[in-house]
Amino acid sequence: MQTDAAPRIPRHIAIVMDGNGRWAERRRRPRSFGHREGQKAVRAAVEYCRRRGVEALTLFAFSSENWKRPQGEVGALMQLFLKALEREVDELHANGVRIAFVGDLSAFSPELAARMQAAMRRTQDNGALRLNVAVNYGGRWDVVQAARALAQAAVRGELAPEAIDEAAFARHVCLADQPPVDLFIRTGGELRISNFLLWQVAYAELYFTDALWPDVDAAVLDAALAEYARRERRYGLTTAQVRAAS
Ligand code: IPE
Ligand code: IPE
Ligand code: MG
Repeated sequence: MQTDAAPRIPRHIAIVMDGNGRWAERRRRPRSFGHREGQKAVRAAVEYCRRRGVEALTLFAFSSENWKRPQGEVGALMQLFLKALEREVDELHANGVRIAFVGDLSAFSPELAARMQAAMRRTQDNGALRLNVAVNYGGRWDVVQAARALAQAAVRGELAPEAIDEAAFARHVCLADQPPVDLFIRTGGELRISNFLLWQVAYAELYFTDALWPDVDAAVLDAALAEYARRERRYGLTTAQVRAAS
């Protein structure tokens, strides 16, 4: 049962880290400067979640649509990812963080893809926090790749089409082996999902803040978690039913 003395902590938080470009533009700096500063907020968010006992943190770092940005910005982001992998993995590993990259990794340079795979392998036995970084990720892509995997299993004769139900589908979308997303946060003031997790946010609590991602710190995350703790998650039931069950 939840009481005030034991505030509800989301088991899984997903964040659309938006607003890096505007943060830099306000300072008359190139957008890539905002992406660089955003990495500090990533570090703070990981540390925050570890400290608060959150089990999984999923960060939207690069969408399947972000390839359409100017070549220079995409290149700068790829350089940042490469450098971050060089620089951050040792410490994350030392802190017990298990890293996963979710998305279509086949689009990245062989060097970047190999480093992502190496980071996943190296940290796979860690248990302090699951950090999922969504790169070249799209929610629609995720649903389609799950449908394709189910169709392939059916063609191989391993799965009857009648056996395709919500549970079977859920096993094939990304993050299937982790707790459901409890809290979905978007920074940067926009009120949209932008093709991030679709299937997985079916019953997530949504939280939007005007804070630009490089400005996000423990206070911003505290406010999100406080709001989450105030929400009543009914899953289609009535308040009376929910209270009777708790
Ligand atoms: C989010 O910040 C980071 C990525 C999409 C890679 P933006 O770059 O979208 O920042 P704004 O929304 O333009 O301010
Ligand atoms: C979503 O932000 C993608 C990431 C944060 C990585 P965008 O800035 O790309 O989304 P839109 O363009 O505002 O919908
Ligand atoms: Mg944006």
